[in-house]
Amino acid sequence: MKITPLHPLFAAEATGIDISVDLTPDQIAEIREAMDTYAVLAFREQTIDDARQRRFSEYFGPLETSRKLHRKGYVPRLDTKMSDISNLDETGRPLAKDDFRLLNMYANRLWHTDSSFKRIPARYSVLAAHVLPRGGGGNTEFADMRAAYDDLDGATKARIENYVCIHSIMNSRERLGYTDFDEGERTGLSPVRQVLVRTHPGSQRKSLYLASHAGSIEGLPVPEGRMTLIDLTEHATQPKYVYSHAWRPGDVVMWDNRCTMHRGRWHDPGDIRDMRRTTVSDEIPTVSEDAPRRAG
Ligand code: OGA
Ligand code: MN
Repeated sequence: MKITPLHPLFAAEATGIDISVDLTPDQIAEIREAMDTYAVLAFREQTIDDARQRRFSEYFGPLETSRKLHRKGYVPRLDTKMSDISNLDETGRPLAKDDFRLLNMYANRLWHTDSSFKRIPARYSVLAAHVLPRGGGGNTEFADMRAAYDDLDGATKARIENYVCIHSIMNSRERLGYTDFDEGERTGLSPVRQVLVRTHPGSQRKSLYLASHAGSIEGLPVPEGRMTLIDLTEHATQPKYVYSHAWRPGDVVMWDNRCTMHRGRWHDPGDIRDMRRTTVSDEIPTVSEDAPRRAG
């Protein structure tokens, strides 16, 4: 496997590896190591179907079950271990403009990290491009949260060191004007606590843990907490921290949700964009006191 950086701070392209076949322990270790350094890895010219994508992803940990906001009677197009990042219905036709499911696609256009609204959030995401918009657009941008943390001044680092944020998928959806959550959604997606500054295990570097799902900071009035999150997000998503991935058919991009944010970019909503994501879960909550107590 050969690694070629795609950005001065992070993100790289991995060539000389076919991720659709069985990998050796050495190859898995090499990918993990590259992920610890670069946080975003692009594999190009891959031929991968959903089952092979799941197998590849499972080398790195257990897969999440997709749990977005869905209406009753919703029929998923893909296996429950796949997140459908497309604008298609279960029969493969483009969704109507007012279809509820498009909410999730628009929410992907806000800077976020995957599954920070779960108590144990995502470690890696793996996104495979199947059909790309005919008219172009639809890049995915990634922002380097370790570099953004490093560049904060000492006073800010000290102020935010022990902050715990409240994350909920309802926060990101409300930003888009959607508030019509039913009781099941409200109870099934109750808010969770996440630290704001975390140490990335593989690199031992500190990282900001921000997302559109974060709505407040414990111990601060909501406006003060939210403004702090807005300021930090503005800082952390300056162009110097951002790598923009222009998709080609056969691309598979893997990213580390613990130390990056990402967002989708505009494409003509009339064009089909079919992307499929697998998500590798982390093992422990970010807030240590939220870990289940061990017996004895
Ligand atoms: C995702 C996501 C953005 C995009 O798959 O988690 O946020 O560009 N995707 O599709
Ligand atoms: Mn995402």
